[in-house]
Amino acid sequence: MAKLEINGKPVSIDAEPDTPLLYVLRDDLKLNAAKFGCGLGQCGACTVLVDGEPTLSCVTPIELLEGKKVTTLEGLGTAQAPGVLQRAFIEEQAAQCGYCIPGMMMRAAALLKKVPKPTDAQIREALVPNLCRCGTHMRIIRAVRRASQS
Ligand code: FES
Ligand code: FES
Repeated sequence: MAKLEINGKPVSIDAEPDTPLLYVLRDDLKLNAAKFGCGLGQCGACTVLVDGEPTLSCVTPIELLEGKKVTTLEGLGTAQAPGVLQRAFIEEQAAQCGYCIPGMMMRAAALLKKVPKPTDAQIREALVPNLCRCGTHMRIIRAVRRASQS
């Protein structure tokens, strides 16, 4: 049993210690924003924040998360009340298939927390671990820049 906080709420997880956080989020808690891409820590689709740091939830076992604070895209806002980053992505239409976008937004959220007004170079560097197969990079960068200006 692991006790942690997810999107500000205390949660007890009854799962095998080596269960990846991504499976717990999607299968047990029905928090489906984080995506299963490669399952190998190589694409970033599953990125969430753990104590504010971008973390690949597909390769993070639940046993490492005792007492930690996890934030998923659901913690940044809702469809009815989107957060700043979510609004910026909508306004810039920064998605094609959309599969990579939740991970991109979580990594961008971590960047904006540390560097509220990043340069384009800093945005690019921060997003390097997250892949987009649709070639939406320029819109994604514009969306993060827009969020940093609002
Ligand atoms: S699904 Fe986790 S890095 Fe690809
Ligand atoms: S929008 Fe399709 S993978 Fe990025």
